[in-house]
Amino acid sequence: MRPQTAHPFDGSSLVSQPRARTVVVLAAGEGKRMKSALPKVLHPLLGRTLVGHVLAAAEPLAAEQTVVVVGHGADRVTAHLAEVAPSAGTVLQAEQLGTGHAVRVALESVPERAGTVVVINGDVPLLRADTVRALVEAHEAAGAAGTVLAAEVADPTGLGRIVRDEAGRLEQIVEERDATPVQRAVREINAGIYAFDAGRLRAALGKLSTDNDQGEEYLTDVFGLLVGAGEPVAVHVAADATETLGCNDRVELAGLRRLLADRINDGWMRSGVTILDPASTWIDVTVTLERDAVVDQNTQLQGSTTVGAEATVGPDVTLVDTVVGAGATVLRAHAVGAEIGPGASVGPYAYLRPEATLREKAKVGTFVEVKKSEIGAGAKVPHLSYVGDATIGARANIGAATIFVNYDGVAKHHTTVGEAAFVGCDTSLIAPVEVGAGAYVAAGSAITQDVPPGALGVTRAPQRAIDNWVLRRRAGTRSAEAARAALATGRPESGDAAGAGPTGAAGGESAHPDTGSGGRDS
Ligand code: UD1
Ligand code: CA
Repeated sequence: MRPQTAHPFDGSSLVSQPRARTVVVLAAGEGKRMKSALPKVLHPLLGRTLVGHVLAAAEPLAAEQTVVVVGHGADRVTAHLAEVAPSAGTVLQAEQLGTGHAVRVALESVPERAGTVVVINGDVPLLRADTVRALVEAHEAAGAAGTVLAAEVADPTGLGRIVRDEAGRLEQIVEERDATPVQRAVREINAGIYAFDAGRLRAALGKLSTDNDQGEEYLTDVFGLLVGAGEPVAVHVAADATETLGCNDRVELAGLRRLLADRINDGWMRSGVTILDPASTWIDVTVTLERDAVVDQNTQLQGSTTVGAEATVGPDVTLVDTVVGAGATVLRAHAVGAEIGPGASVGPYAYLRPEATLREKAKVGTFVEVKKSEIGAGAKVPHLSYVGDATIGARANIGAATIFVNYDGVAKHHTTVGEAAFVGCDTSLIAPVEVGAGAYVAAGSAITQDVPPGALGVTRAPQRAIDNWVLRRRAGTRSAEAARAALATGRPESGDAAGAGPTGAAGGESAHPDTGSGGRDS
């Protein structure tokens, strides 16, 4: 996972920090309905895991301490957290005895502090940092003992209901399974995100019962206890109810992915990026794009990918951890860990693998795969090639179907092609080998020795023509018939086609090195 960076649309602006804060993230549950070997909170969603999103939303609170309660898949969750949120601590809740129990376990694991405790369910990935901040600030400004984030939803099924008195004050939160029919009709739900005064939370947690339908210690019961003790509690209503959506199965996860993608796409379009088909554009929260970048349809931008100003990516492009320079074009391509320089051109149908580096205005064309190689400024690999473990100098031209033969079955070896060198089509450059600056390689060569600067490297065998071979050995075929007819009307000058041809580099650029005469053999 990448470091969590701020984006224009997730509102992770820094806040002033009036009180000591502790963040507790609840992530011990199994998520049974995901039906997955992967713990629920580790499911990925556009650049972060579910729990990664929650931690990112809490990050601007600048909490003194952050504790994640782990249980199911604790080892995997802990290992993931060490990567994405190394400053967060974890505490094991060996048995999932309820959300209240989970918070109790969390607070017992950290030094007792005054201040605010923010509790966030680990499965609400669309939560915005601004919303958490507003909740906490409202809570602290009001001097409340507890404040719950609520939302008005069309379908409250399965969620805890906010139960208010006639005056509209919070009385309690009731789980659906414990609710009366009247309470069930309430559409104002508990989002599972709270701010508490640390001391009063600790006191109330000590009084939780398990007298409910699930026999669990419910964190939500803290509110009823606080109200009963005459402590001030508050409800903070989220402006955007989609932020409070939880994720219980993969259908919901897909729904969240759609919502988040829309939010991300809208954010980039508002900051000056053209997205031609938002419905088929999937941009991770960790990606950045510059002004006047164009994203064409069916494009996925993932990980630490960045797209420079006025670059065009898509249609049909997947970029993972890839840098695209200003004004570059990437069309129907897949790139992982690559760097595409300013004004460079990639595709259609190209595959860039880790450490593929294209310098300014370099070209990687159709059906070309590049791995761990540098392609110099203005250099071209236009067609049907494999480039692995190579350094290609500026303005070199690599003809169609050139293979950088980098692997001998045991080890990988490097190939260097000098500046403005010209490698003819269908060449194998068998590494380790070096083609000097300005050197040529004749088409169809298998190069095993260095070609000095300015020299022509050629390894082709002289061509032979065995006259009438088809008439003798393929008699009765349509080829033989055509040959017979052609021979009857006069032979074409056979020497024209034989012998040293052009190096055959692509793009009509031709070269006619005199590499030996064609032979005939009858
Ligand atoms: C909880 C709330 C409900 C609210 C809903 C919002 C309670 C009792 N109910 O219900 O009012 O509307 O969230 O989504 O809190 N967890 C632990 N340890 C446990 C139990 C749960 O860490 O012992 C974690 C889960 O991994 C999850 C979070 O707490 O991330 C919420 O638990 P879950 O079982 O999903 O609670 P809900 O039934 O959804
Ligand atoms: Ca839940």
